[in-house]
Amino acid sequence: MENILSKYKTVLADHATIWFKAGNINDFPSNRGGCIKYKDKQIAVFNFERRNEWYACQNACPHKMEMVLSRGMTGSADDVPKIACPMHKKTFSLADGSNLNGEEYSIATYPVRVIGDEVFVGFLE
Ligand code: FES
Repeated sequence: MENILSKYKTVLADHATIWFKAGNINDFPSNRGGCIKYKDKQIAVFNFERRNEWYACQNACPHKMEMVLSRGMTGSADDVPKIACPMHKKTFSLADGSNLNGEEYSIATYPVRVIGDEVFVGFLE
């Protein structure tokens, strides 16, 4: 299980060296997630239309290592954009990946850029 998580590390927008085209805006439903594959990673991409923002994170939920976060519910907690895992409803910040339930495990987040109608996710390599 550790192996699954070890390939996911948060990338800050300023540090991204590769901007991978995830798709077009219309590929991602409003306020829901879509899953893309980049190399050996599954990445959940969220078109958070209620906030007019986009987010990306690892698709693997660190609770039970299920590849499900793209199917979770988006929401906000004290203005922090969050994703709730569809399995057991653990919630994570989409801004920094922190665990909003106060548990020690968190998720990796990735920067998203929208240029025209194209959606890009940033990676280090
Ligand atoms: S697998 Fe995600 S909360 Fe349990």
